Amino acid sequence: MESAKTLAEWVSDARQRTMDLVADLTDDQLMGPSLDTVNPLRWEIGHMAWFQEKWVLRHLEKQAPYRKNVDALYDSIAIPHDDRWDLPLPNREETLTYICEVRDQVLERIEQGLSEEEAYHILYAVFHEDMHTEAFTYTRQTHGYPPPELTGVAPGPSGGGRVDGDVEIPGGDFLLGAGQDESFVFDNEKWAHPVALEPFSIARALVTQSEFVGFVEDGGYGRKELWSEEGWQWRETERADHPVYWRKESGGKWQRRDFDRWVPLESDRPVIHVNWFEAEAYCEWAGRRLPTEAEWEAAAACGHDRGSLSKSKRRFPWGDEGPESGQAHLDWRGMGCAEVGAYPEAESAFGCRQMIGNVWEWTSSVFLPYPGFIADPYEEYSEPWFETRKVLRGGSWATRSRLLRNTWRNYFTPDRRDVMAGLRTVAKS
Ligand SMILES: [Fe+2]
Repeated sequence: MESAKTLAEWVSDARQRTMDLVADLTDDQLMGPSLDTVNPLRWEIGHMAWFQEKWVLRHLEKQAPYRKNVDALYDSIAIPHDDRWDLPLPNREETLTYICEVRDQVLERIEQGLSEEEAYHILYAVFHEDMHTEAFTYTRQTHGYPPPELTGVAPGPSGGGRVDGDVEIPGGDFLLGAGQDESFVFDNEKWAHPVALEPFSIARALVTQSEFVGFVEDGGYGRKELWSEEGWQWRETERADHPVYWRKESGGKWQRRDFDRWVPLESDRPVIHVNWFEAEAYCEWAGRRLPTEAEWEAAAACGHDRGSLSKSKRRFPWGDEGPESGQAHLDWRGMGCAEVGAYPEAESAFGCRQMIGNVWEWTSSVFLPYPGFIADPYEEYSEPWFETRKVLRGGSWATRSRLLRNTWRNYFTPDRRDVMAGLRTVAKS
């Protein structure tokens, strides 16, 4: 578990990032229109401090609730998504006071010395906040707000170009999931268990925007045979003809909305904000398929061992050291995607690039518990979502580096286009 000093830094840093991501927004923007996908930001920042208050200050320290009705305002499990715009939420100043006071009380607790259980819940709340700060970022994209202005964010690499071709991954017994030597992992990563893999070939790089144009221009959105039944139904309902933030200008060139600006497509950057149905149909058009999550993890974590998959796994594609020192496109680096050929030094042992960072990668796998699954103390993290969501791997440019590793599983319903997801394809055998 992290030291008290690191925990204190992360608690402060996570809250600062939250505040920076909403600081420039008007009161109206802080609520935004009611949508099925994203949350009202004024609710969401309160929710995230409420989570910390509930698990650190109330659950462990037995403090009284901060205010009488706080659970009725911010409990994401109890309050239906659509109702969150109509709650008697505290105003902006009251909300900011609340999230700062909770942070300060947690920092005080850290100074007094922590039990392992306290450290666990403080860390859990930091990671929960990290997931929400990524959501604050794509909420700003959803609503067409300006890009956030964050201090202390490293610029992204310029250039990188594209990388073509596949790498061959040998088959064999693969241990899917986190090893028991990890100091902190989420319940859905536990524990490593054997899965038999057939040999497969996976793309070295993410699908680029220019590759995706090929699918769009070939009428891919209108060709029923490329879509699953459920995917076609989604496409018909949404009348989708192209990725959600794309448009064709009068000259016939495609543009992409990047927060509040329209920009020409960036041909060597990955396609982003496509849902699972779109990813699946693209693969079908390209004569390819999505990787399973086991295939994805093997390509990221393993290497060759005398012609088969190595038994040992790396924590990250490039090795065991974390990405904090910039091996991957994370932490709002460049405030957008990097080209798919960037970060050549951080390839996996098999030669796959950017498996961590840039965009989340859809896999073909349904989100399911691993054998022997036991829910974490925060029981609603994974369990309610099994079987209804698809697994994504790898993290996006707005994911915190401290959150990730090769075994990390994200999960969304297949219709979500607002999340920062793209894809990498596998050859059909
Ligand atoms: Fe939450």
